[in-house]
Amino acid sequence: MAEQAPSTPERTVRVLLIDDDEDDYILTRELLEGVPGAQFQIEWEPDADAALDSICRGDHDVYIIDFLLGRRTGLEIIEESVKRNCSAPLILLTGQGKRELDFAAMRAGAADYLEKGNLDSTLLERSIRYAIQKKQSEDQLDKRVQERTAELARINEILQGEIRERERAEKALREIVQRKDEFLATLAHELRNPLAPIRNALEIMRLGAMTPDTIERCRSMMQRQVSHMVRLIDDLLDISRITRGKIALKMERICLDDAVAVAIEGSQPLIDARNHVLTVRLPDEPICLTADSTRLTQILINLLNNAAKYTEPGGEIELTASLQGSHVVLRVKDTGIGIPSDLLPHIFDMFAQVDHSRDHAQGGLGIGLSLVRGLVELHGGTVDAHSNGAGSGSEFIVKLPISGGA
Ligand SMILES: Nc1ncnc2c1ncn2[C@@H]1O[C@H](COP(=O)(O)OP(=O)(O)OP(=O)(O)O)[C@@H](O)[C@H]1O
Ligand SMILES: [Mg+2]
Repeated sequence: MAEQAPSTPERTVRVLLIDDDEDDYILTRELLEGVPGAQFQIEWEPDADAALDSICRGDHDVYIIDFLLGRRTGLEIIEESVKRNCSAPLILLTGQGKRELDFAAMRAGAADYLEKGNLDSTLLERSIRYAIQKKQSEDQLDKRVQERTAELARINEILQGEIRERERAEKALREIVQRKDEFLATLAHELRNPLAPIRNALEIMRLGAMTPDTIERCRSMMQRQVSHMVRLIDDLLDISRITRGKIALKMERICLDDAVAVAIEGSQPLIDARNHVLTVRLPDEPICLTADSTRLTQILINLLNNAAKYTEPGGEIELTASLQGSHVVLRVKDTGIGIPSDLLPHIFDMFAQVDHSRDHAQGGLGIGLSLVRGLVELHGGTVDAHSNGAGSGSEFIVKLPISGGA
């Protein structure tokens, strides 16, 4: 700690004498005037309450308090000021030298204890100097403690933030691991599903005696199931290519009507199977844009299939295309089960399914929308989902730049 210069009264030291006897005031003033080279400005306060207020305001550098103050004692004033958290250098002055009083003053928080009988200028000046110096040291210590406490609080805050951040990251990691586990189970299930009917068909063939009609039914069923498996595996390969940045678009000038027609052809069997009504609204003037037509069809099929899957049979699905400045806007809207608002932001995450058991029953891996977003973004576009909640239908809006994002 840097050494402090002694607080010799180089500047005027403001002293308040708290005493109900004016003679004491005159005497103390004379003693202070007798201090060689010192500058003191002494004031006198006979009223204990007014003195307490002054102590708390810190009007003076030091307070000399007489022990006997009418109905109160100097000790009480010291105790009261400490209770009020008013830390000022307080010196107790007494006419009767009693050792117990000396100790009581110290315990109460006085800086010093002086007996009137022994008092002279030197002793008084010394006591004042020590009291002020003690107060300065205490203030400095307080300041350092406060600074250190503030620094510790700041460090603690940073550490708490880091802990929270780590907990968030761990939670996110646990969720990813859980979703991956669920995904693996779903994948196994989805890949196994088509095998049962294929195996049945093979068994029927093994038994022989097949009519042309049975052969055709077995063939078309096997073709359907194999196409389904091929689509699952293609989706998986695509999503892995997108995440590794390994997918290349074949950008060319295409007509939106053609891509829409191919997509409808792809989704129509599912839409029909669930008795939905599909309404398509395209602008009179055909829209042409630069895009990868296979990928654009894949985007639309995914959205149409979702609309068909997540709408109770007999629902309505709407596909609309329009031009908005330099963008094509495609909307797929349904009257289906909707999406809870808290899950909307996560719907495009990989393996995300709103209600695993429910969506699982509809078949699917939870990668369709993730694929859609990846493909749309590769085109320099955006995709958003809207829903007013469960039972209120959903709408997916894809915006693609006509120029192909180049
Ligand atoms: N039109 C929709 N209406 C209501 N919920 C939807 C709709 N489209 C998607 N969802 C919800 O978003 C989830 C994720 O959709 P996504 O297409 O990524 O996966 P999936 O359809 O379950 O499986 P797949 O990988 O076969 O597409 C779905 O499981 C479903 O809960
Ligand atoms: Mg899907």
